[in-house]
Amino acid sequence: MPDKLLEINDLNVVYETDDALVYAVNGLDLTINKGETLGLVGETGAGKTTTALSIMGLLPDKTGFIKGGQIKFEDIDITKATENDMKLIRGESVSMIFQDPMTSLNPILTIGDQISEVLELHKKSLNKEQISKRVDEILQLVGIPPDRKGEYPHQFSGGMKQRVVIAIALACEPKLLLADEPTTALDVTIQAQVLEMMKDLKEKLNTAVLLITHDLGVVSEICDRVAVMYAGEIIEIGTTEDIFGGSYRHPYTDGLFGSIPDLTRSTRRLNPIEGLMPDSTNLPEGCKFHTRCCKCKEICKTVNPQFKINGTHFIRCH
Ligand SMILES: Nc1ncnc2c1ncn2[C@@H]1O[C@H](COP(=O)(O)OP(=O)(O)OP(=O)(O)O)[C@@H](O)[C@H]1O
Ligand SMILES: [Mg+2]
Repeated sequence: MPDKLLEINDLNVVYETDDALVYAVNGLDLTINKGETLGLVGETGAGKTTTALSIMGLLPDKTGFIKGGQIKFEDIDITKATENDMKLIRGESVSMIFQDPMTSLNPILTIGDQISEVLELHKKSLNKEQISKRVDEILQLVGIPPDRKGEYPHQFSGGMKQRVVIAIALACEPKLLLADEPTTALDVTIQAQVLEMMKDLKEKLNTAVLLITHDLGVVSEICDRVAVMYAGEIIEIGTTEDIFGGSYRHPYTDGLFGSIPDLTRSTRRLNPIEGLMPDSTNLPEGCKFHTRCCKCKEICKTVNPQFKINGTHFIRCH
């Protein structure tokens, strides 16, 4: 049995805005094992970032609320943790690379100071000299020459800034790294380098990674397992082989695969999934995908399906 690091059970997250309630995450179950890379995919608005923010305890104040469920990280239930508990967990045990890396750096601090800051907060036993040595090591690890640590973010290229963001996230060697679209803002060559680096780091540090992305190619490259999210729920989860090579998939996952070009076959048109994801303020009854599903049956309109399990492969479909 794999060793569980994070276990989410029946998580419900709502955003309360002036004119509506947004049901962003609805009964989500998800487990991340020690040292594994789990890909989380799904269309825009599916609730991927909301899930990551819930794990970090960083839902927006006064708008984002966990309405039920558990997020168990080791022995702690994050949904019940105080802000002080979370300050200890964040950075030290769990850290996050945000969807927009270019705004996660402080423009008026050198990159060396930004990495030191994290270490000073979490590694109180280290003295100045040890911190400085650690900053050099971590920069080396992400492929930035340590003698550039006195420079400011604007002096680095986009790809290098992203490496700095990753360096900050990894400074305390967290057990879990939440990477929200870590390469979307980068060009393809830099993207490949950053992914290669994340793969290396995982091998060196045994960090578990939740990799949020739209890019199925990236997922097949570096993930051990894949979870597919739709309207705030996991609708399919399995090993990368189950999802990419299996003979049976959720109709939604099939749709996602139909929307990417296949260079080995000649097709005149792609087959994108018809329609849009349902409005999160007004979700349909039954299976949330039924309004767009080409295999929809009567029962799908009223009863939300449970997972059907086949070994490591879970599919929520009638
Ligand atoms: N601060 C907020 N206030 C109100 N609604 C929000 C807020 N943040 C997100 N939402 C809504 O919650 C739902 C889930 O959003 P979320 O950002 O988690 O999606 P996502 O899967 O990360 O999408 P993307 O792929 O575009 O990043 C969406 O309907 C979104 O409009
Ligand atoms: Mg997002």
